[in-house]
Amino acid sequence: MSSNQNYDLVIIGAGPGGYVAAIRAAQLGLKTAAIDKRATPGGTCLHVGCIPSKALLDSSEIYELAQTKFKRHGVEFDNVTLNLPNMMKRKGEVVKGLTMGVLGLMKKNKIDYIQGAGRFLSKTEVEVEKADGSKETLTAKNMLIATGSEPVELPFMKFDHEFVCDSTDALSFDKVPERLVLIGGGVIGLELGSVWRRLGAKVTVIEMLPRILPPMDGECAEAMQKMLKRQGLEFKLGCKVTGCEKTGAAGSVSYINEKGETESVECDKVVVAVGRRPYTSGLDLEAAGVQLDAMKRVAINERFQTSVENIYAIGDAVEGPMLAHKAEEEGVACAEILAGKPGHIDKDTIPNVVYTWPEVASVGKTEEEVKGSGVEYISATFPFMANGRAKAMGEMDGFVKVIAAKEDDALLGVHIVGPRASDMIAEAVCAMAFGGSAEDIARICHAHPTLSEALKEAALGIDGRTIHM
Ligand code: NAI
Repeated sequence: MSSNQNYDLVIIGAGPGGYVAAIRAAQLGLKTAAIDKRATPGGTCLHVGCIPSKALLDSSEIYELAQTKFKRHGVEFDNVTLNLPNMMKRKGEVVKGLTMGVLGLMKKNKIDYIQGAGRFLSKTEVEVEKADGSKETLTAKNMLIATGSEPVELPFMKFDHEFVCDSTDALSFDKVPERLVLIGGGVIGLELGSVWRRLGAKVTVIEMLPRILPPMDGECAEAMQKMLKRQGLEFKLGCKVTGCEKTGAAGSVSYINEKGETESVECDKVVVAVGRRPYTSGLDLEAAGVQLDAMKRVAINERFQTSVENIYAIGDAVEGPMLAHKAEEEGVACAEILAGKPGHIDKDTIPNVVYTWPEVASVGKTEEEVKGSGVEYISATFPFMANGRAKAMGEMDGFVKVIAAKEDDALLGVHIVGPRASDMIAEAVCAMAFGGSAEDIARICHAHPTLSEALKEAALGIDGRTIHM
């Protein structure tokens, strides 16, 4: 066992929260080490989350476009075939390129990246157990917990990673399952369901609630469900899964439907995507005195400080949406606080994106939340059907919805269902972060022809002066 005494900051977990915090801390002159079980930094997001899923979403989208839409553009060929091993290989190369790139950034910023499992010995000491069984103790003035989250397992349906799979398994199936059941109509269920449906699986989504995408604006979720249904996804809403049975190579999932009847659906694989929970097991938080909140997240104050003053926590391990970009912002703010600066994040303007096609993106409050708050508001929508660029692309599904306060026109929420909604939402985030109004967006010159004109038109609609509708 060796010991290294002189870090300003030791970070446990090098996902988007941890590695970004490490870089910002190093930029500010703090001697920093990051510990992670994986050989390369990037965490769930880069290895088995956002990045590989987007690689597969993009590849499967191209495959589907080639089969269904190219012809309409006058691009014709005889036969489109799927080479799944090559699609997976490309996904692997994307992941490798990015994770090695982040490792390079760690080196460039003189951050010690230590592969191994970290656990607290005290509030200033962390022991790292490496893959070869050797141990090293790191000592630091400040510690940062950035250990992320793990998929929730249904107690009556344990992951066997063959038939009952988690989202990580579903990024690496070696063949397209003929029939795939997804439990959970949230973001993971719909993104992975879209991938495998496009590649040829018959996909059924079983969702407990009477709607999909629970935190999203209701009108957007409803529109999205219709579009996904049209694409071929089957939805069983208001259905409570009760168990599954494996019979030979395939099996079935049973559930109680909205009328209280027991039904079942046959399938070759099941993916459980019913949420994620903070991952803190093995950290020995008790040894340092770090407390959890009622929801088993690491409890923090507004400065990301845990119940122990020199131990901080960010990302999926703490309260707030489990999103890579939220963790990154917290990582930067936390590092700045540690360096004596006023680190801060604006929790009200964190965008949320679902990378289906079309995409769903939102910022601020949903119409349901605004209604519930009692604030008087005006809401206006503009369809992509009336947008020149969307027509040129042949992607007219969806709309932009702007919600503004009746009293002063302040933007309360912007919700987009449509092509490249993920990129378009940045304008709304920017406007809201600057305290903007619908009128501000309406009076900004938007390039023509672009999809972003739909946002301008929806903003004009708040004052009843939409031009192209
Ligand atoms: P989620 O919370 O988005 O959705 C889970 C869904 O499962 C909910 O609709 C819930 O009602 C349903 N559910 C729960 N228990 C159920 C049961 N027993 N039977 C049927 N349905 C049930 O969780 P998800 O999709 O697993 O994602 C986990 C986290 O990862 C989320 O917090 C999400 O923000 C994050 N994530 C974000 C992505 C993005 O930003 N594009 C992509 C993937 C994940």
